[in-house]
Amino acid sequence: MTQPQAQTCTLGTPLSPSAVRVMLLGAGELGKEVLIALQRLGVETIAVDRYDHAPGQQVAHHSHTIAMNDPAQLRELILREKPDLVVPEIEAIATSVLEELEAEGVVRVIPTARAARLTMDREGIRRLAAETLGLPTSPYRFCDSLQELQAAIDELTGYPCVVKPLMSSSGKGQSKISGPADVSKAWDYAMAAGRVAQGRVIVEGFIDFDYEITQLTVRAAGQGNQAGQIVTHFCEPIGHVQVDGDYVESWQPHRMPESALNKARDIAKAVTDNLGGQGVFGVELFVKGDQVWFSEVSPRPHDTGLVTLSTQHQSEFELHARAILGLPVNTALRSPGASAVIYGGLDAQDVVFDGVAQAMNHPQVDIRLFGKPESFVKRRMGVAVAWDADEQQARKLAKAAAAQVKPRAPQSA
Ligand SMILES: Nc1ncnc2c1ncn2[C@@H]1O[C@H](COP(=O)(O)OP(=O)(O)OP(=O)(O)O)[C@@H](O)[C@H]1O
Ligand SMILES: [Mg+2]
Repeated sequence: MTQPQAQTCTLGTPLSPSAVRVMLLGAGELGKEVLIALQRLGVETIAVDRYDHAPGQQVAHHSHTIAMNDPAQLRELILREKPDLVVPEIEAIATSVLEELEAEGVVRVIPTARAARLTMDREGIRRLAAETLGLPTSPYRFCDSLQELQAAIDELTGYPCVVKPLMSSSGKGQSKISGPADVSKAWDYAMAAGRVAQGRVIVEGFIDFDYEITQLTVRAAGQGNQAGQIVTHFCEPIGHVQVDGDYVESWQPHRMPESALNKARDIAKAVTDNLGGQGVFGVELFVKGDQVWFSEVSPRPHDTGLVTLSTQHQSEFELHARAILGLPVNTALRSPGASAVIYGGLDAQDVVFDGVAQAMNHPQVDIRLFGKPESFVKRRMGVAVAWDADEQQARKLAKAAAAQVKPRAPQSA
């Protein structure tokens, strides 16, 4: 099979006709770091989000606030701004518009418009992974009613099992069902929390994994005799802890047997080869002994990969920026390390952060505050990252630092 050729942008001068212009659809904390990485290469940046003063909007040359899941608004904005590249940062986007504009040759979508469509709902990516590519996944079925859900549990998954709305992220609407008494509650919860009003869920058999990892996988221009071709690069595996479907801490590398790591990378390669294009992918995998299951994939930097801000020569955000522009990448680890999430802990606007100096009072710790205009109890407002030759020690450092940062309402003392 001939290797696909990498597309390379000739970098220019921002705010001039020679500029390479990149539009981020979604400008949260992950997009903000991608935007900063692009700015360092003199790229002209456009940040789009559904609310004003989103983190990435604060660092981009241009910003817009629209409903990105509204096809008319999205099409109008892309045609008006005419970016060279459109980079989805979130799933809730009118991907049909991206497919149309890509097909018309108006823009290049990262990694591809098809990848954005397939990964925005659990059915697209699950059917691709399990049915088209034959990769190991949890047993699953899609259900359109409570009756179908009950039948799927009785016939296929048994208990425990996990129910998720087709379109949701960060664990929203997701529940683990332990027995028959939980089924209708799980159905109602999924219906209430799904991103769009559609009565369809996935039920998955519960995988009793030893641990789960994110395998960051980068499709980027090769070097040496592979120059000009798209080559697949792997980062060291990232271990993480999820609470209620939301990541709370991560570390890199996650020590694991080589046989399992090889399987994880084979799965990641198969999925990302199929999705195609250039950029970073976060492949989520469950591992038990030598067994590895594919869970899902983000065709973009992954939240658990915030750890790479302290562990890699090039963070996943720099890797994404370079990969999409057609530049070479280096996925090597600089030092083992860890990240821990700083939650808002309260519902308030314009919060202030106590304890930042204390948290930073260690040479191997750093803090990022995302600048979100509104805090919620469970909203990610910042992250602590740490490095140490021993990643378990780095976990302790990151968690201790995150715990010292305390958001509070501006008028409270
Ligand atoms: N079939 C399963 N068996 C065991 N645990 C599961 C299963 N499905 C999900 N989980 C657990 O729930 C977490 C969240 O699931 P999943 O990644 O599918 O949801 P999500 O809403 O897309 O989350 P995110 O957007 O944070 O990645 C997983 O990382 C895993 O810890
Ligand atoms: Mg996930």
